[in-house]
Amino acid sequence: MAKFYLTTPIYYVNARPHIGHTYTTVVGDAIARYKRMLGDEVVFLTGTDEHGQKIERSAKAARMEPQKFVDRIANEYRSLWDSLDLRYDRFIRTTEWRHERAVHNLLCKARDAGYIYKGTYEGLYCVSDELYVDDPTAEGKCPLCGRELEKISEENYYFKLSAFADRLLELYNRPGLPFVQPESRRNEVISFVKGGLRDLSVSRTSIKWGIPWPDDDKHVVYVWYDALTSYMSGVGYGDDELQFEKMWPADLHLIGKEILRFHAVYWPAFLMAADEPLPKRVVAHGWWTFEGEKMSKSRGNIRLAQPIANVLGVDALRYFLLREMVFGQDGSFSYEALLTRYNSDLANGLGNFASRTLAMIEQYFGSVVPTAAPATDSSLAALSADRQAAALRHYEKFEFSSALQSIWDLIAAGDAYLTREKPWTLAADPARRVDLGIVLYNAAELLRIVSMLAHPVLPHSTQKIWAQLGQKTLLAGERIDQIQWGGLKPGTQIEKGEALFPRIQKEDAIERMDQMEEEIRSEGAPKPAAPAAASSAAPAAAAATAPAADNRIGIEDFAKVEMRVGEVKSAERVPNADKLLMIMVDIGSEVRQVVSGIAQFYEPEKLVGRKVVVVVNLAPRKLRGVESNGMIVAASVGPEGKPVLAGFLEDVPVGTRLK
Ligand code: MSP
Repeated sequence: MAKFYLTTPIYYVNARPHIGHTYTTVVGDAIARYKRMLGDEVVFLTGTDEHGQKIERSAKAARMEPQKFVDRIANEYRSLWDSLDLRYDRFIRTTEWRHERAVHNLLCKARDAGYIYKGTYEGLYCVSDELYVDDPTAEGKCPLCGRELEKISEENYYFKLSAFADRLLELYNRPGLPFVQPESRRNEVISFVKGGLRDLSVSRTSIKWGIPWPDDDKHVVYVWYDALTSYMSGVGYGDDELQFEKMWPADLHLIGKEILRFHAVYWPAFLMAADEPLPKRVVAHGWWTFEGEKMSKSRGNIRLAQPIANVLGVDALRYFLLREMVFGQDGSFSYEALLTRYNSDLANGLGNFASRTLAMIEQYFGSVVPTAAPATDSSLAALSADRQAAALRHYEKFEFSSALQSIWDLIAAGDAYLTREKPWTLAADPARRVDLGIVLYNAAELLRIVSMLAHPVLPHSTQKIWAQLGQKTLLAGERIDQIQWGGLKPGTQIEKGEALFPRIQKEDAIERMDQMEEEIRSEGAPKPAAPAAASSAAPAAAAATAPAADNRIGIEDFAKVEMRVGEVKSAERVPNADKLLMIMVDIGSEVRQVVSGIAQFYEPEKLVGRKVVVVVNLAPRKLRGVESNGMIVAASVGPEGKPVLAGFLEDVPVGTRLK
């Protein structure tokens, strides 16, 4: 059994996970599932990057102890991945002691080999990327993120990066499996190294929040040295040698394109210096952009995964991310594109093909798979073999979009087959019963093969189809590379279940997702997604539960929410949005525009003059293109979450703060 060890980047805990982070973890999960279906022993690692100035500052801004702060966000990551059923095998946190030991191990090996020395750095530094910038063309701005650079002067430990240029170039140019993929990224790295490598400062004295330097605790270890080592500490480096020997080197580091240099230049050099084996490859994907810009917290244009998973189901979220983005390139995110894909590919495509095939077997053959004898349709079998091979070729190269295209070719062929053979007409003629059986056998067999091929991307809905086709095994245990036409046994009892992907009304779904995003942001904690196997478009159950004891917040957290008494000056419906009202509300210091999801329960004209409670310090955001600068507070009543506006029995002056 071959082992396959793959990693995602470990995510910074200064901010909460968004759809960009979710994308990488979904890609990793799909690769892991694919490799398992090839019979590999897979270890999939993810985790959190918890040290450094950026985190130190975020904790300070949240008025929390750094450790408490990182515990909280690391938990959010973990529970988001769990709720999306993203099956990592290891979750490494850089604040774990075993990780610290691993960092010391690696560092000491490099030092003992003579690759670390003491020197002084004077120059510019980007706090956000934890990067020294000595590029004279930078003009005071970070070349990675564009933020203002800070001037610093520090005595540091340096890593002799310059000593590795030749060995690195050899690595990029080795024959066989390229170290860096895709090719465009490999070229980028080659020209970076050819441009000349300077030694790298790998310690900091200006920060406390980090791993202490071995034998010199005035310094902490540079956060990227620390973070990259998580790929080894996550599988036992310096702790469980047996496990480490088995898993290392990693077969694949999956990353976003912005952290290529750290992974393709620094990381192999750190390992060469310590005489440790190198990972087999680094593969960089592109960015999800939103309205043309990279999604990021600082730009305030992020989208979250949970609303999509809640409204459309986990599989729809996975399908969209993997189908819409051509792996390696950037992809543009929009709810509009998401719902178009959902309705056309999942509801009308896979969902419809499955339900019509199963319904006809139920109706014409009493839910028993008919026999295909005397002849199956060989053209369908040949097409299936061809598309299977194509899908596997694409999966191997992580070209999910093309793999899915190949699989969807089969669905289209199945639909066309049913339309051409018209089983409903055959059923009307008892003399054609054998032909009817052949047609429905073929359709069901095609469906079985589609469910196997699509399993790495759509694990929950394909398992359902598999069970509906009367298969008793777990689809995850099947071999994706050994699919044979004719595997479905005639006589198998099928069970037509609920629709897998009910068609959904676009406007309504967008409104629900917008509203949920708003709720999650204002709650300060992500909600769990609907159960992983959920495929229904029903609204998620209202999470009106009391917070668990360990989720309690201090008064300082509560104090961050500024709520004031407001008076509604005008209210009108937002065009094409059933649930939204645009409300102008006087909060004492100004009249604010707020968009509120209460239109189904409150007539706009009846709101004028009413006193309401407004959260006034929420970051502005757009709902259906209309800017909202705050939130009107309401109770969420009953299972459908009917909003009931908060108000006062006594008269209260406009602008009064709630405490
Ligand atoms: N902590 C470092 C990584 C250290 S790895 C040893 C880091 N963390 S991060 O939280 O900023 O996560 C970056 C990763 O999240 C990217 O490399 C990418 O995988 C993913 N993405 C974050 N935003 C993204 C998009 N808008 N689009 C696609 N992926 C993105 O960097």
